[in-house]
Amino acid sequence: MLPLKSVLTYVRSAILARMDMQGLAQKHQICCLNDLISDVVEELAVLALAANVMLTAQIQVRQTLKVFGDEEQLYRVLVNLITNAIQHTPENGDIVVRLTRDDHHALISVQDTGSGIAPRDIPRIFDRFYRVESDRSRSTGGSGLGLAIVLAIVQTHHGNIQVQSELGKGSTLTVRLPSVRN
Ligand SMILES: Nc1ncnc2c1ncn2[C@@H]1O[C@H](COP(=O)(O)OP(=O)(O)OP(=O)(O)O)[C@@H](O)[C@H]1O
Ligand SMILES: [Mg+2]
Repeated sequence: MLPLKSVLTYVRSAILARMDMQGLAQKHQICCLNDLISDVVEELAVLALAANVMLTAQIQVRQTLKVFGDEEQLYRVLVNLITNAIQHTPENGDIVVRLTRDDHHALISVQDTGSGIAPRDIPRIFDRFYRVESDRSRSTGGSGLGLAIVLAIVQTHHGNIQVQSELGKGSTLTVRLPSVRN
């Protein structure tokens, strides 16, 4: 049998290859981020529970916040960011998924109290197959494609992603997407 990691790497490479070819952005529709975030957090609650970390959603907007995009792909962005946070946060840590806005954008941040990322690694974590040194030796863990997929999706949605992190304290990855008027 093929090891699970090889299969996952294969699947993720295929996702990226398809994005390269098609430029993705296939099924754009109006997506409600309030619902999307609640759904993902609910879905990943089991994973957080198993890792003994607290995963919560903080919807800090009064009205529903909508973007024009591919719901499945936006869901994938959140899953990749939250699973990273879970993987790098020690037991009893906290992960908060926050939804806020500014004038024309929706901001989704995933904040963890985990290992943090060294400043020299931050520019490279979105590279395909890049994994921080200390992670490469871990027998578990991924292929280093999760954030490359996140970046590709965010860019085709005309957004951007920022990283704030401090070693030993935690990380916050913030996705900014153009919002749709209600
Ligand atoms: N929240 C985080 N805290 C600390 N390090 C992180 C965090 N998110 C990502 N990283 C670092 O960035 C690297 C790249 O992340 P990425 O999601 O692309 O790959 P991966 O999680 O190793 O594998 P995959 O997502 O393909 O399963 C990770 O290996 C890890 O070293
Ligand atoms: Mg990952």
